[in-house]
Amino acid sequence: MHSKPLAPGTARELVEWSTRQLHEAGLAFGHGTDNAYDEAASLVFSALQLGPSPGAERLDAPVSADTVSKAMQLVELRINTRKPAAYLTGEAWFAGMPFHIDERVLVPRSPLAELIENRFSPWVIPDRVTRILDLCTGSGCIACACAVAFPDARVDAADLSADALAVADRNIRRHALEQRVVPVESDVFAALGGRSYDIIVSNPPYVPRDAMSELPAEYHHEPAIGLVAGGEGLDIVLQILNNAQHYLNDGGILVVEVGCSQQALGAAFPDVPFTWLDFEYGGEGVFMLEREQLVTYQPAFDHAIRD
Ligand SMILES: C[S@@+](CC[C@H](N)C(=O)[O-])C[C@H]1O[C@@H](n2cnc3c(N)ncnc32)[C@H](O)[C@@H]1O
Repeated sequence: MHSKPLAPGTARELVEWSTRQLHEAGLAFGHGTDNAYDEAASLVFSALQLGPSPGAERLDAPVSADTVSKAMQLVELRINTRKPAAYLTGEAWFAGMPFHIDERVLVPRSPLAELIENRFSPWVIPDRVTRILDLCTGSGCIACACAVAFPDARVDAADLSADALAVADRNIRRHALEQRVVPVESDVFAALGGRSYDIIVSNPPYVPRDAMSELPAEYHHEPAIGLVAGGEGLDIVLQILNNAQHYLNDGGILVVEVGCSQQALGAAFPDVPFTWLDFEYGGEGVFMLEREQLVTYQPAFDHAIRD
């Protein structure tokens, strides 16, 4: 730490001071924030037990010496350990909802939040959505946000990792959604036989194996099972493409985030008419396919799996 605030001051001053510390430390951002100011705010607001967007009144109110000390400790840990802020505060916000987060799960940051809050518009008729699958659920953030966006729908929250599912379960209970959101331990679709959905949504692992060593230290605190997906980053996505049609109702849609692997996926399937979605609040690399399209291009997916 290079400098300390001279006096407790206000939350706003504490955020500004923390921003300078994080900026000077040359950290990488990308776990729910993309700049030092927002990251500093998340640490300070956590110390103050505030939500993500406190009003000016709270920002300009005096803070206690104890709060200053807590916030400074978080900033110091963030710099010294390179852990994403959510692992230090134990919490992340997704689609306007708070989630418990620890190192058993990836830190929520998917642009899918915006699509969920918009009820997958214009790709579904919301009132007809009664079954949703969140494949590769991690913390359960996508599954819970879907359940809130579609109050009449039941949601399966599937993941291969029992550790991740324990976190998802905690978040499902935190939001009192246990009647409608069910954690399922499953290797992609393996344990989902006989079920079918109106929407399958997934943020699966999609980082190519060799790209891992190039990622900043922050990413190496996350579980590798949540990031790495074979040599091209497409191993899990291919399994999803090859099987999703069997788990979709007529008129159902598949929405998958592939992030940095968008180009590799397009190159692997040049004839498949992926609809790449736009996001007002940033993010890319998310495609949508209708069930009928998955049926049409099944031979291409099958061929790629066999290669
Ligand atoms: C990128 S994380 C996404 C977590 C969460 N959906 C989110 O957006 O924050 C991918 C998740 O996929 C899970 N996963 C990895 N391989 C899987 C597989 N074969 N079947 C099901 N889930 C898998 C990991 O455990 C991890 O929780």
